[in-house]
Amino acid sequence: MLTVVASLKGGSGKSTVTFNLAVWLAMAGIRVRAFDLDPQATLSDVIEVRQDEKTKPALRIEGGIAELMAADRAVADGEEILVDVGTADIEAMNAAVSMADRVLVPVQPSQADIWSVQRFLRMVRKESQDQGPEVYAFINRGDTHHAVRESDEAAAALVTLPGLRLLRPRLRQRTAFRRSFSEGQAVFELEPRGKAARELLALAAATYAHVLK
Ligand SMILES: Nc1ncnc2c1ncn2[C@@H]1O[C@H](COP(=O)(O)OP(=O)(O)O)[C@@H](O)[C@H]1O
Ligand SMILES: [Mg+2]
Repeated sequence: MLTVVASLKGGSGKSTVTFNLAVWLAMAGIRVRAFDLDPQATLSDVIEVRQDEKTKPALRIEGGIAELMAADRAVADGEEILVDVGTADIEAMNAAVSMADRVLVPVQPSQADIWSVQRFLRMVRKESQDQGPEVYAFINRGDTHHAVRESDEAAAALVTLPGLRLLRPRLRQRTAFRRSFSEGQAVFELEPRGKAARELLALAAATYAHVLK
């Protein structure tokens, strides 16, 4: 399955989530092929750190859009392709989205981010002939304080958007995501018992239910 992690917003957590899911898939014994089509190359950078640290399971980044097209044509059963894209290269983003089986959109809980998701959905629809990819959103960098209801309100708004499915598990704003990333590790490697790990694993289970069967 080809999953593209995308959004029009920088800093929404695309590279963080792509990386964590790639590590998780590799740990699950799935053949995962990771592509970084964002000129910012954050995913490539974090994987380079991981390689320098010789952390297992090892990951590597594959080439650009041409290699992605080849990988998509020759995708093997049980293989997962994960693509990190950014708005710095809209053409690459659109090309990846048009190939995708599904698009995963991290959304920060703010009105601006909801509007941006709506715009993104229109772009996806325009780029994809007849049957476009499924588009899934989830809340990232949610509030950790009970009294703050912004994440609930953002989730409520997301479920009303046509053509979008909300994945219930949320990632909250947690330093573990930043700290693990800078070590080239997934959150569940650095702090397996932490809250961030639990959140990420819940998201992985919802996103990759088919590999757990
Ligand atoms: N849930 C989170 N909690 C705390 N920091 C996060 C979280 N998700 C992402 N970040 C941090 O936010 C910044 C942007 O994330 P990144 O994954 O690079 O976003 P994008 O790829 O969408 O631009 C990074 O410093 C990352 O560590
Ligand atoms: Mg990024």
